[in-house]
Amino acid sequence: MAEKSTAIAEKFSGKAAQVCIMPECGGFFGLNERIYVCPKCGGPLEIECRAPEGLLASALQARWDARAVSHDPRDKSGVWRYRELLPFEEPAACVTLFEGNTPLYEAPRSAQYAGLSALRLKHQGCNPTGSFKDTGMTVAVTQAVALGAKTVVCASTGNTAASLAAYAARAGLQAAILLPRGQITASKLAQSMDYGAGVFELDGNFDDCMRLIQELGSEPSIYVANSINPFRIEGQKTVAFELMTQSGWRVPDQVVVPGGNMGNSSALGKGFEEMLALGLIDRLPKLNIIQAEGTAPLATLFASLRDKNPEDAARLPESALAAVAHPRTLATAIKIGAPVSWRKSLRAVLRSGGQIISVSEQEIADAKAMIGRDGIGCEPASATTLAGIRRLVASGHIRRDENVVAVLTGHVLKDPDYVTQYHRGMLALETDGATVKIAGTFANMPLRVAANRAALMDALEKRR
Ligand code: F0G
Repeated sequence: MAEKSTAIAEKFSGKAAQVCIMPECGGFFGLNERIYVCPKCGGPLEIECRAPEGLLASALQARWDARAVSHDPRDKSGVWRYRELLPFEEPAACVTLFEGNTPLYEAPRSAQYAGLSALRLKHQGCNPTGSFKDTGMTVAVTQAVALGAKTVVCASTGNTAASLAAYAARAGLQAAILLPRGQITASKLAQSMDYGAGVFELDGNFDDCMRLIQELGSEPSIYVANSINPFRIEGQKTVAFELMTQSGWRVPDQVVVPGGNMGNSSALGKGFEEMLALGLIDRLPKLNIIQAEGTAPLATLFASLRDKNPEDAARLPESALAAVAHPRTLATAIKIGAPVSWRKSLRAVLRSGGQIISVSEQEIADAKAMIGRDGIGCEPASATTLAGIRRLVASGHIRRDENVVAVLTGHVLKDPDYVTQYHRGMLALETDGATVKIAGTFANMPLRVAANRAALMDALEKRR
Protein backbone atom coordinates (compact mmCIF):
# COMPACT_ATOMS: atom_id res chain seq x y z
CA MET A 1 0.00 0.00 0.00
CA ALA A 2 2.87 2.36 0.75
CA GLU A 3 4.24 2.01 -2.81
CA LYS A 4 0.87 2.52 -4.40
CA SER A 5 0.17 5.48 -2.12
CA THR A 6 3.31 7.18 -3.40
CA ALA A 7 2.21 6.54 -6.96
CA ILE A 8 -1.18 8.08 -6.22
CA ALA A 9 0.44 11.07 -4.56
CA GLU A 10 2.55 11.63 -7.69
CA LYS A 11 -0.26 11.29 -10.22
CA PHE A 12 -3.15 12.82 -8.29
CA SER A 13 -3.39 15.63 -5.85
CA GLY A 14 -6.47 14.02 -4.31
CA LYS A 15 -6.94 11.39 -1.65
CA ALA A 16 -7.64 8.38 -3.87
CA ALA A 17 -7.78 7.02 -7.41
CA GLN A 18 -9.45 4.20 -9.35
CA VAL A 19 -6.90 1.55 -10.25
CA CYS A 20 -7.08 -1.48 -12.55
CA ILE A 21 -6.25 -4.65 -10.60
CA MET A 22 -4.63 -6.40 -13.59
CA PRO A 23 -0.87 -6.11 -12.91
CA GLU A 24 0.15 -5.92 -16.57
CA CYS A 25 -2.24 -3.00 -17.16
CA GLY A 26 -1.72 -0.58 -14.30
CA GLY A 27 -4.59 1.66 -15.48
CA PHE A 28 -5.03 4.65 -13.21
CA PHE A 29 -8.07 6.95 -13.22
CA GLY A 30 -9.55 9.87 -11.29
CA LEU A 31 -12.45 9.48 -8.89
CA ASN A 32 -14.79 11.57 -11.02
CA GLU A 33 -14.55 9.27 -14.02
CA ARG A 34 -17.80 7.32 -14.33
CA ILE A 35 -16.28 3.93 -15.12
CA TYR A 36 -16.96 0.44 -13.78
CA VAL A 37 -14.25 -1.56 -15.55
CA CYS A 38 -10.82 -0.44 -16.73
CA PRO A 39 -11.23 1.62 -19.95
CA LYS A 40 -7.78 0.37 -21.07
CA CYS A 41 -8.09 -3.39 -20.65
CA GLY A 42 -11.62 -4.13 -19.38
CA GLY A 43 -10.24 -5.46 -16.07
CA PRO A 44 -11.85 -4.88 -12.66
CA LEU A 45 -11.27 -1.54 -10.93
CA GLU A 46 -10.62 -0.88 -7.30
CA ILE A 47 -10.05 2.28 -5.32
CA GLU A 48 -6.70 3.01 -3.72
CA CYS A 49 -6.81 5.54 -0.89
CA ARG A 50 -3.74 7.33 0.36
CA ALA A 51 -2.85 6.45 3.94
CA PRO A 52 -3.91 9.22 6.33
CA GLU A 53 -0.83 11.40 6.75
CA GLY A 54 0.90 11.86 10.07
CA LEU A 55 -1.55 9.64 11.92
CA LEU A 56 -0.38 6.68 13.97
CA ALA A 57 -2.45 3.50 13.86
CA SER A 58 -3.22 3.86 17.57
CA ALA A 59 -4.46 7.44 17.05
CA LEU A 60 -6.73 6.29 14.23
CA GLN A 61 -8.13 3.50 16.40
CA ALA A 62 -8.76 5.94 19.25
CA ARG A 63 -10.46 8.39 16.88
CA TRP A 64 -12.77 5.69 15.50
CA ASP A 65 -13.58 4.42 18.99
CA ALA A 66 -14.48 7.95 20.13
CA ARG A 67 -16.82 8.46 17.16
CA ALA A 68 -18.97 5.54 18.28
CA VAL A 69 -20.45 7.82 20.97
CA SER A 70 -20.44 11.08 18.96
CA HIS A 71 -23.65 12.81 17.79
CA ASP A 72 -22.25 14.02 14.45
CA PRO A 73 -24.50 12.33 11.82
CA ARG A 74 -21.41 11.08 9.96
CA ASP A 75 -20.17 9.42 13.12
CA LYS A 76 -23.54 7.75 13.72
CA SER A 77 -23.11 5.88 10.44
CA GLY A 78 -21.03 2.73 10.88
CA VAL A 79 -19.59 3.46 7.42
CA TRP A 80 -18.79 7.19 7.42
CA ARG A 81 -17.28 6.88 10.89
CA TYR A 82 -14.29 5.36 9.06
CA ARG A 83 -14.07 8.21 6.52
CA GLU A 84 -10.29 8.53 6.69
CA LEU A 85 -10.23 5.41 4.51
CA LEU A 86 -13.09 6.38 2.19
CA PRO A 87 -12.45 8.03 -1.19
CA PHE A 88 -13.97 11.45 -0.45
CA GLU A 89 -12.16 14.63 0.47
CA GLU A 90 -14.71 15.89 2.98
CA PRO A 91 -17.86 13.81 2.80
CA ALA A 92 -20.18 16.40 4.29
CA ALA A 93 -23.21 15.57 2.12
CA CYS A 94 -23.31 11.82 2.50
CA VAL A 95 -26.58 9.97 1.81
CA THR A 96 -27.02 7.90 4.93
CA LEU A 97 -29.62 5.84 6.79
CA PHE A 98 -27.18 5.29 9.68
CA GLU A 99 -26.11 1.96 8.25
CA GLY A 100 -23.56 -0.33 9.86
CA ASN A 101 -23.48 -0.46 13.67
CA THR A 102 -24.54 -4.09 13.42
CA PRO A 103 -24.30 -6.52 16.34
CA LEU A 104 -21.64 -9.15 16.86
CA TYR A 105 -23.29 -12.05 18.67
CA GLU A 106 -21.98 -15.09 20.50
CA ALA A 107 -23.76 -18.16 19.07
CA PRO A 108 -23.16 -21.13 21.39
CA ARG A 109 -25.61 -23.60 19.83
CA SER A 110 -24.36 -22.86 16.35
CA ALA A 111 -20.78 -23.25 17.59
CA GLN A 112 -21.54 -26.66 19.04
CA TYR A 113 -23.32 -27.70 15.85
CA ALA A 114 -20.26 -26.78 13.79
CA GLY A 115 -17.82 -28.47 16.21
CA LEU A 116 -16.32 -25.23 17.54
CA SER A 117 -15.83 -24.17 21.13
CA ALA A 118 -17.13 -20.67 20.27
CA LEU A 119 -18.51 -18.79 17.29
CA ARG A 120 -19.43 -15.16 16.71
CA LEU A 121 -21.95 -13.95 14.15
CA LYS A 122 -21.64 -10.46 12.67
CA HIS A 123 -25.25 -9.74 11.72
CA GLN A 124 -25.26 -7.47 8.69
CA GLY A 125 -28.96 -8.25 8.30
CA CYS A 126 -29.51 -5.65 11.03
CA ASN A 127 -28.80 -2.84 8.57
CA PRO A 128 -31.62 -0.36 7.72
CA THR A 129 -33.00 -2.36 4.77
CA GLY A 130 -32.16 -5.73 6.30
CA SER A 131 -28.99 -6.65 4.43
CA PHE A 132 -25.27 -5.86 4.21
CA LYS A 133 -25.84 -4.00 0.94
CA ASP A 134 -26.59 -0.76 2.80
CA THR A 135 -22.97 -0.28 3.82
CA GLY A 136 -21.99 -0.15 0.14
CA MET A 137 -25.03 1.71 -1.09
CA THR A 138 -24.52 4.73 1.17
CA VAL A 139 -21.17 5.30 -0.56
CA ALA A 140 -22.31 4.49 -4.12
CA VAL A 141 -25.36 6.78 -3.92
CA THR A 142 -23.29 9.56 -2.35
CA GLN A 143 -20.93 9.27 -5.33
CA ALA A 144 -23.91 9.20 -7.75
CA VAL A 145 -25.05 12.55 -6.32
CA ALA A 146 -21.50 13.95 -6.50
CA LEU A 147 -21.31 12.95 -10.18
CA GLY A 148 -24.68 14.53 -10.95
CA ALA A 149 -26.30 11.26 -12.07
CA LYS A 150 -30.06 11.31 -12.71
CA THR A 151 -30.79 7.60 -12.47
CA VAL A 152 -29.18 4.84 -10.45
CA VAL A 153 -29.60 1.26 -11.67
CA CYS A 154 -28.79 -2.25 -10.53
CA ALA A 155 -29.41 -5.89 -11.33
CA SER A 156 -30.36 -7.81 -8.26
CA THR A 157 -31.48 -10.99 -6.57
CA GLY A 158 -33.47 -8.65 -4.29
CA ASN A 159 -31.31 -7.16 -1.56
CA THR A 160 -29.21 -4.80 -3.67
CA ALA A 161 -32.46 -3.62 -5.20
CA ALA A 162 -34.14 -2.93 -1.85
CA SER A 163 -31.06 -1.09 -0.64
CA LEU A 164 -30.61 0.99 -3.79
CA ALA A 165 -34.31 1.85 -3.82
CA ALA A 166 -34.09 3.17 -0.25
CA TYR A 167 -30.90 5.22 -0.70
CA ALA A 168 -32.07 6.62 -4.04
CA ALA A 169 -35.28 7.72 -2.32
CA ARG A 170 -33.24 9.47 0.38
CA ALA A 171 -31.20 11.24 -2.29
CA GLY A 172 -34.16 12.11 -4.51
CA LEU A 173 -32.73 10.14 -7.44
CA GLN A 174 -34.64 7.91 -9.83
CA ALA A 175 -33.90 4.22 -9.21
CA ALA A 176 -34.33 1.48 -11.80
CA ILE A 177 -33.91 -2.08 -10.66
CA LEU A 178 -33.68 -5.13 -12.89
CA LEU A 179 -34.88 -8.38 -11.36
CA PRO A 180 -35.15 -11.94 -12.64
CA ARG A 181 -38.93 -12.40 -12.80
CA GLY A 182 -40.37 -14.85 -10.29
CA GLN A 183 -37.04 -15.44 -8.55
CA ILE A 184 -37.15 -12.72 -5.90
CA THR A 185 -38.69 -13.20 -2.47
CA ALA A 186 -41.92 -11.30 -1.82
CA SER A 187 -40.36 -9.32 1.04
CA LYS A 188 -37.51 -7.99 -1.08
CA LEU A 189 -39.82 -7.09 -3.95
CA ALA A 190 -42.15 -5.34 -1.51
CA GLN A 191 -39.31 -3.18 -0.20
CA SER A 192 -38.31 -1.94 -3.66
CA MET A 193 -41.92 -1.14 -4.51
CA ASP A 194 -42.42 0.70 -1.22
CA TYR A 195 -39.30 2.85 -1.66
CA GLY A 196 -40.62 4.03 -5.02
CA ALA A 197 -38.09 2.46 -7.38
CA GLY A 198 -38.88 1.58 -10.99
CA VAL A 199 -39.12 -2.21 -10.75
CA PHE A 200 -38.40 -4.07 -13.98
CA GLU A 201 -38.99 -7.81 -13.98
CA LEU A 202 -36.99 -9.47 -16.74
CA ASP A 203 -37.54 -12.85 -18.34
CA GLY A 204 -34.19 -14.37 -17.50
CA ASN A 205 -31.95 -15.04 -14.53
CA PHE A 206 -29.74 -12.70 -12.49
CA ASP A 207 -26.81 -13.14 -14.86
CA ASP A 208 -28.98 -11.95 -17.78
CA CYS A 209 -29.95 -8.86 -15.76
CA MET A 210 -26.29 -8.23 -14.96
CA ARG A 211 -25.31 -8.42 -18.64
CA LEU A 212 -27.89 -5.76 -19.45
CA ILE A 213 -26.60 -3.55 -16.63
CA GLN A 214 -23.10 -3.69 -18.06
CA GLU A 215 -24.49 -2.43 -21.38
CA LEU A 216 -26.33 0.42 -19.63
CA GLY A 217 -23.13 1.63 -17.95
CA SER A 218 -22.18 3.77 -20.95
CA GLU A 219 -25.41 5.84 -20.80
CA PRO A 220 -24.34 9.30 -19.50
CA SER A 221 -27.37 9.87 -17.23
CA ILE A 222 -27.12 6.46 -15.60
CA TYR A 223 -25.04 5.36 -12.65
CA VAL A 224 -24.57 1.62 -12.01
CA ALA A 225 -24.78 0.62 -8.35
CA ASN A 226 -23.87 -3.06 -8.60
CA SER A 227 -20.73 -4.26 -6.85
CA ILE A 228 -18.64 -3.93 -10.04
CA ASN A 229 -18.82 -0.28 -8.99
CA PRO A 230 -15.71 0.14 -6.82
CA PHE A 231 -17.41 2.75 -4.60
CA ARG A 232 -19.79 0.01 -3.37
CA ILE A 233 -16.81 -2.03 -2.26
CA GLU A 234 -15.38 0.95 -0.36
CA GLY A 235 -18.49 1.12 1.79
CA GLN A 236 -18.69 -2.62 2.28
CA LYS A 237 -15.04 -2.89 3.38
CA THR A 238 -15.92 -0.92 6.53
CA VAL A 239 -17.53 -4.01 8.05
CA ALA A 240 -13.99 -5.28 8.58
CA PHE A 241 -13.13 -2.05 10.43
CA GLU A 242 -16.29 -2.26 12.54
CA LEU A 243 -15.62 -5.91 13.36
CA MET A 244 -12.14 -5.07 14.59
CA THR A 245 -13.41 -2.11 16.62
CA GLN A 246 -15.97 -4.43 18.25
CA SER A 247 -13.33 -7.11 18.86
CA GLY A 248 -10.93 -4.80 20.71
CA TRP A 249 -8.58 -5.12 17.69
CA ARG A 250 -8.03 -8.86 18.30
CA VAL A 251 -7.81 -10.39 14.83
CA PRO A 252 -10.05 -13.44 14.29
CA ASP A 253 -8.38 -16.56 12.89
CA GLN A 254 -11.14 -17.21 10.39
CA VAL A 255 -13.81 -15.06 8.76
CA VAL A 256 -16.54 -16.85 6.79
CA VAL A 257 -18.93 -15.28 4.26
CA PRO A 258 -21.46 -16.48 1.68
CA GLY A 259 -20.50 -15.98 -1.97
CA GLY A 260 -22.80 -14.83 -4.78
CA ASN A 261 -21.58 -12.08 -7.09
CA MET A 262 -18.45 -11.89 -4.87
CA GLY A 263 -18.60 -8.22 -3.91
CA ASN A 264 -18.88 -8.88 -0.19
CA SER A 265 -15.88 -11.19 0.03
CA SER A 266 -13.82 -8.81 -2.12
CA ALA A 267 -14.72 -5.94 0.18
CA LEU A 268 -13.93 -7.78 3.40
CA GLY A 269 -10.59 -8.89 2.01
CA LYS A 270 -9.80 -5.29 1.01
CA GLY A 271 -10.75 -3.98 4.44
CA PHE A 272 -8.45 -6.39 6.24
CA GLU A 273 -5.58 -5.83 3.80
CA GLU A 274 -5.82 -2.06 4.26
CA MET A 275 -5.77 -2.41 8.04
CA LEU A 276 -2.69 -4.63 7.76
CA ALA A 277 -0.92 -2.11 5.50
CA LEU A 278 -1.66 0.69 7.97
CA GLY A 279 -0.46 -1.29 10.98
CA LEU A 280 -3.95 -1.38 12.52
CA ILE A 281 -3.71 -5.19 12.64
CA ASP A 282 -0.65 -7.45 12.52
CA ARG A 283 -1.99 -10.34 10.42
CA LEU A 284 -4.86 -11.22 8.11
CA PRO A 285 -7.67 -13.53 9.19
CA LYS A 286 -8.24 -16.43 6.80
CA LEU A 287 -11.11 -15.43 4.51
CA ASN A 288 -13.43 -18.30 3.55
CA ILE A 289 -16.26 -18.17 1.03
CA ILE A 290 -19.18 -20.59 0.97
CA GLN A 291 -21.35 -21.11 -2.11
CA ALA A 292 -24.50 -23.14 -2.65
CA GLU A 293 -23.76 -26.46 -4.38
CA GLY A 294 -26.17 -25.76 -7.26
CA THR A 295 -24.29 -22.64 -8.25
CA ALA A 296 -20.69 -22.76 -7.11
CA PRO A 297 -18.44 -21.67 -9.98
CA LEU A 298 -15.76 -20.12 -7.79
CA ALA A 299 -15.58 -23.12 -5.46
CA THR A 300 -15.09 -25.31 -8.53
CA LEU A 301 -12.31 -23.06 -9.84
CA PHE A 302 -10.68 -22.91 -6.40
CA ALA A 303 -10.65 -26.71 -6.11
CA SER A 304 -8.90 -26.93 -9.49
CA LEU A 305 -6.03 -24.59 -8.52
CA ARG A 306 -2.93 -26.65 -7.74
CA ASP A 307 -0.61 -24.43 -5.74
CA LYS A 308 -3.07 -21.78 -4.47
CA ASN A 309 -0.70 -18.97 -5.40
CA PRO A 310 -2.14 -15.44 -4.79
CA GLU A 311 -0.87 -14.40 -8.23
CA ASP A 312 -3.26 -16.94 -9.78
CA ALA A 313 -6.17 -14.54 -9.46
CA ALA A 314 -4.51 -12.10 -11.85
CA ARG A 315 -2.93 -14.69 -14.16
CA LEU A 316 -6.02 -16.74 -14.95
CA PRO A 317 -7.87 -16.03 -18.20
CA GLU A 318 -11.47 -14.84 -17.97
CA SER A 319 -12.56 -18.26 -19.26
CA ALA A 320 -11.04 -19.95 -16.18
CA LEU A 321 -14.30 -19.37 -14.36
CA ALA A 322 -16.82 -21.79 -15.87
CA ALA A 323 -20.13 -19.98 -15.40
CA VAL A 324 -23.08 -22.07 -14.24
CA ALA A 325 -25.73 -21.64 -16.93
CA HIS A 326 -28.69 -22.77 -14.81
CA PRO A 327 -28.03 -21.86 -11.18
CA ARG A 328 -30.07 -23.88 -8.68
CA THR A 329 -30.58 -23.03 -5.05
CA LEU A 330 -33.36 -22.04 -2.68
CA ALA A 331 -30.97 -19.43 -1.29
CA THR A 332 -32.17 -17.04 -4.00
CA ALA A 333 -29.87 -14.21 -2.85
CA ILE A 334 -26.87 -16.15 -4.14
CA LYS A 335 -28.48 -17.77 -7.17
CA ILE A 336 -25.75 -16.43 -9.43
CA GLY A 337 -23.87 -18.45 -12.05
CA ALA A 338 -21.38 -15.88 -13.35
CA PRO A 339 -20.06 -13.78 -10.46
CA VAL A 340 -18.57 -10.55 -11.78
CA SER A 341 -16.11 -9.90 -8.93
CA TRP A 342 -14.58 -13.39 -8.88
CA ARG A 343 -11.04 -12.18 -9.49
CA LYS A 344 -10.90 -9.73 -6.57
CA SER A 345 -12.54 -12.26 -4.35
CA LEU A 346 -10.23 -15.13 -5.30
CA ARG A 347 -7.22 -12.87 -4.82
CA ALA A 348 -8.37 -11.95 -1.30
CA VAL A 349 -8.94 -15.59 -0.33
CA LEU A 350 -5.58 -16.72 -1.73
CA ARG A 351 -3.71 -13.88 -0.01
CA SER A 352 -5.31 -14.79 3.31
CA GLY A 353 -4.85 -18.57 3.03
CA GLY A 354 -8.59 -19.31 3.28
CA GLN A 355 -10.88 -21.72 1.43
CA ILE A 356 -13.77 -21.57 -1.06
CA ILE A 357 -16.21 -24.46 -0.80
CA SER A 358 -19.84 -25.29 -1.45
CA VAL A 359 -22.58 -26.81 0.68
CA SER A 360 -25.83 -28.63 -0.10
CA GLU A 361 -29.40 -27.31 0.20
CA GLN A 362 -30.00 -29.62 3.16
CA GLU A 363 -26.92 -28.33 4.96
CA ILE A 364 -27.98 -24.70 4.37
CA ALA A 365 -31.51 -25.33 5.65
CA ASP A 366 -30.36 -27.14 8.79
CA ALA A 367 -27.68 -24.55 9.53
CA LYS A 368 -30.28 -21.80 9.19
CA ALA A 369 -32.56 -23.50 11.70
CA MET A 370 -29.62 -23.91 14.08
CA ILE A 371 -28.77 -20.18 13.89
CA GLY A 372 -32.44 -19.59 14.64
CA ARG A 373 -32.11 -21.68 17.81
CA ASP A 374 -29.51 -19.19 18.97
CA GLY A 375 -32.26 -16.56 18.74
CA ILE A 376 -30.72 -15.04 15.63
CA GLY A 377 -32.68 -14.86 12.39
CA CYS A 378 -30.98 -14.81 9.01
CA GLU A 379 -31.95 -15.53 5.44
CA PRO A 380 -30.92 -18.80 3.75
CA ALA A 381 -27.87 -17.40 1.89
CA SER A 382 -26.38 -16.26 5.21
CA ALA A 383 -26.65 -19.77 6.66
CA THR A 384 -24.20 -21.14 4.10
CA THR A 385 -21.60 -19.78 6.52
CA LEU A 386 -22.47 -22.10 9.41
CA ALA A 387 -22.89 -25.06 7.05
CA GLY A 388 -19.48 -24.24 5.55
CA ILE A 389 -17.80 -23.86 8.94
CA ARG A 390 -19.12 -27.28 9.92
CA ARG A 391 -17.52 -28.77 6.83
CA LEU A 392 -14.25 -26.87 7.31
CA VAL A 393 -14.02 -28.06 10.92
CA ALA A 394 -14.66 -31.64 9.80
CA SER A 395 -11.96 -31.36 7.10
CA GLY A 396 -9.44 -29.82 9.54
CA HIS A 397 -9.24 -26.43 7.80
CA ILE A 398 -10.70 -24.77 10.89
CA ARG A 399 -9.58 -25.92 14.34
CA ARG A 400 -12.08 -26.33 17.16
CA ASP A 401 -10.48 -23.67 19.34
CA GLU A 402 -9.97 -21.02 16.65
CA ASN A 403 -11.50 -17.55 16.83
CA VAL A 404 -14.16 -17.71 14.09
CA VAL A 405 -16.55 -15.02 12.83
CA ALA A 406 -19.34 -15.72 10.33
CA VAL A 407 -20.92 -12.79 8.52
CA LEU A 408 -24.70 -13.06 8.29
CA THR A 409 -25.72 -11.04 5.27
CA GLY A 410 -29.52 -10.80 5.41
CA HIS A 411 -32.39 -10.75 7.92
CA VAL A 412 -34.73 -13.70 8.52
CA LEU A 413 -37.75 -11.64 7.40
CA LYS A 414 -36.27 -11.38 3.90
CA ASP A 415 -37.59 -14.87 3.17
CA PRO A 416 -40.27 -16.04 5.64
CA ASP A 417 -41.76 -18.53 3.15
CA TYR A 418 -38.57 -20.57 3.20
CA VAL A 419 -38.65 -20.66 6.98
CA THR A 420 -42.24 -21.79 7.34
CA GLN A 421 -41.87 -24.39 4.61
CA TYR A 422 -38.80 -25.85 6.34
CA HIS A 423 -40.53 -26.03 9.70
CA ARG A 424 -43.63 -27.58 8.14
CA GLY A 425 -41.45 -30.14 6.35
CA MET A 426 -42.54 -28.81 2.96
CA LEU A 427 -39.33 -27.27 1.64
CA ALA A 428 -38.30 -28.57 -1.78
CA LEU A 429 -36.12 -27.59 -4.74
CA GLU A 430 -37.42 -28.12 -8.26
CA THR A 431 -34.66 -29.20 -10.65
CA ASP A 432 -35.15 -30.34 -14.23
CA GLY A 433 -38.73 -31.28 -13.53
CA ALA A 434 -37.70 -33.38 -10.50
CA THR A 435 -38.43 -32.33 -6.93
CA VAL A 436 -35.71 -32.65 -4.31
CA LYS A 437 -37.22 -32.61 -0.84
CA ILE A 438 -35.39 -30.91 2.03
CA ALA A 439 -35.92 -32.70 5.34
CA GLY A 440 -37.13 -30.60 8.27
CA THR A 441 -34.37 -31.98 10.51
CA PHE A 442 -34.93 -29.33 13.19
CA ALA A 443 -38.54 -28.59 12.25
CA ASN A 444 -40.69 -26.67 14.70
CA MET A 445 -44.26 -27.14 13.50
CA PRO A 446 -47.05 -24.91 14.80
CA LEU A 447 -49.54 -27.01 16.79
CA ARG A 448 -53.29 -26.69 16.58
CA VAL A 449 -54.81 -26.36 20.05
CA ALA A 450 -58.32 -25.86 21.35
CA ALA A 451 -58.88 -22.34 22.71
CA ASN A 452 -58.89 -23.25 26.38
CA ARG A 453 -56.41 -23.24 29.25
CA ALA A 454 -56.36 -26.99 29.91
CA ALA A 455 -55.65 -27.85 26.28
CA LEU A 456 -52.85 -25.29 26.13
CA MET A 457 -51.25 -26.50 29.39
CA ASP A 458 -51.47 -30.05 28.12
CA ALA A 459 -49.79 -29.10 24.83
CA LEU A 460 -47.03 -27.24 26.68
CA GLU A 461 -46.40 -30.24 28.90
CA LYS A 462 -45.95 -32.46 25.84
CA ARG A 463 -43.36 -30.08 24.37
CA ARG A 464 -41.20 -29.94 27.55
N1 F0G B 1 -26.13 -12.88 1.10
C1 F0G B 1 -27.18 -12.13 0.75
C2 F0G B 1 -28.33 -12.04 1.69
C3 F0G B 1 -27.18 -11.48 -0.51
O1 F0G B 1 -28.23 -10.74 -0.85
C4 F0G B 1 -26.09 -11.63 -1.37
C5 F0G B 1 -26.07 -11.00 -2.68
C6 F0G B 1 -25.01 -12.41 -0.92
C7 F0G B 1 -25.07 -13.01 0.32
C8 F0G B 1 -23.80 -12.60 -1.74
O2 F0G B 1 -22.99 -11.45 -1.71
O3 F0G B 1 -22.94 -11.06 -4.14
O4 F0G B 1 -21.43 -9.84 -2.61
O5 F0G B 1 -21.10 -12.28 -3.03
N2 F0G B 1 -27.05 -10.40 -3.20
C9 F0G B 1 -26.99 -9.61 -4.42
C10 F0G B 1 -28.30 -8.89 -4.63
C11 F0G B 1 -26.49 -10.31 -5.59
O6 F0G B 1 -28.63 -8.55 -5.77
O7 F0G B 1 -28.97 -8.59 -3.65
P1 F0G B 1 -22.05 -11.14 -2.95
